[in-house]
Amino acid sequence: MNYKTLKDFPEDFLWGASTSAYQVEGAWDEDGKGLSVQDVGKYPEGTTDFKVASDFYHHYKEDIKLFAEMGFKAFRFSVAWTRILPNGIGEINQKGIDFYNNVINELLSYGIEPIVTMYHFDLPYELEKKGGWSNRETIDAFENYSKVVFESFGDRVKYFLTINEQNMMILFGAILGTAGEDGEDPAKKLYQQNHHMLLAQAKAMKLCHDMCPSAKIGPAPNISSVYPATSKPEDILAASNFSSIRNWLYLDAAVYGRYNSVAWSYMEKKGCTPVIEDGDMEVLKAGKPDFIAFNYYSTMTVAENKEEDMNDKSKADQQRAFAEGGVFKAAESVGLPKTEFGWPIDPVGFRNTLREINERYDLPLIVTENGLGAYDKVEEGDIIDDEYRIDYLRKHIEQARLAITDGVKLFGYCPWSAIDLVSTHEGCTKRYGFVYVNRDEFDLKDLKRIKKKSFYWYKDVISSNGEKLE
Ligand code: BG6
Repeated sequence: MNYKTLKDFPEDFLWGASTSAYQVEGAWDEDGKGLSVQDVGKYPEGTTDFKVASDFYHHYKEDIKLFAEMGFKAFRFSVAWTRILPNGIGEINQKGIDFYNNVINELLSYGIEPIVTMYHFDLPYELEKKGGWSNRETIDAFENYSKVVFESFGDRVKYFLTINEQNMMILFGAILGTAGEDGEDPAKKLYQQNHHMLLAQAKAMKLCHDMCPSAKIGPAPNISSVYPATSKPEDILAASNFSSIRNWLYLDAAVYGRYNSVAWSYMEKKGCTPVIEDGDMEVLKAGKPDFIAFNYYSTMTVAENKEEDMNDKSKADQQRAFAEGGVFKAAESVGLPKTEFGWPIDPVGFRNTLREINERYDLPLIVTENGLGAYDKVEEGDIIDDEYRIDYLRKHIEQARLAITDGVKLFGYCPWSAIDLVSTHEGCTKRYGFVYVNRDEFDLKDLKRIKKKSFYWYKDVISSNGEKLE
């Protein structure tokens, strides 16, 4: 739909950007921090580990000052579970609490709203050794951890996110380093883990409402509209299958406390329905989100897959679909350009996705990731001309405004990432930030912060409340 006049971004719109603890902090074993699954993982050849990352742990004041200079209204970051509970459960590490208190207080001193993700791919290794999310005790461990988070930070934090991209951990855990040391688990195990995470999330949402009545909480999945490769009814069905399995399984459970019926039938077909114990569905229903946070990078395109034994995940990741026998298979998107890393670029798909979520759930929405991974180059005079990133973000912000005009209750936009950090599986030279961090995969250099062209551009976007995009 075209409009003659567009609605404005709301006055108090939360312009900001995002990071996650293990991808940005470094200090992997400092000040009492315990090991997470990311600290003991295997890293793809040619890519760095997460030991130093962007060293935000030691640079947070300098980095937050840069965020303030850009005019951020919000900063989305995650708490490393193992920094405050080194073993996942048990003794609290006061130094970890102190670090996040410092970060939160520093943000607030500039009037930047902290948006806290409680768990972003970094399960404590001690819990992983006891079975990780396959073990029901991890649900209690997460609830206990949530309690510590709410007790420690709930007096100042108004927005909490439960679990980052639970859907991606279930679909691509081996790639994201969250699947444990033996690589990908069989589907039966994965969907049991998924059930436990859903329960943990529901308990945390309920606890947040009980303990911090003025705070709001929501899930943070990766959501992408799924397109059929053609208008053939069979392709449309395939797209609906994949969307239920990839998107709605997670949001239906978080919002309505029930399993999506197509996703459930898929699990039945594969023989991987989870064991649901007495009382579980009541727990799911009791946890209600106040809003939906979601990460959007691109849309997915799939086609009918008639062959039962055509399963292929070899080229798939967060934004590249795969093939499931008799359910769907990845197809080429029509006419969409791709990033240097092969992810389709689809700003209109962003509007589609916003509208779809809005129609299904009718809740306020915040975008907690959106961005372009690229090999940035530093030219003479410390110039980083990342016009391609500006172009990507500009087109997505334009579509966000159209979605607001469509009636979507969007209250914030936090692209990925505030500063350069280490990608989940493609190293630190796949950069996303507004601020360049001077290091290579294996040469830490001086970790100097350099403002990219997009830094100045985003500053203008924020100060004009989304009016000035050129
Ligand atoms: C999301 C994750 O999947 O995408 C982030 O929440 C991640 O942690 C981001 O970094 C970009 O993906 P990648 O694989 O390029 O790091």
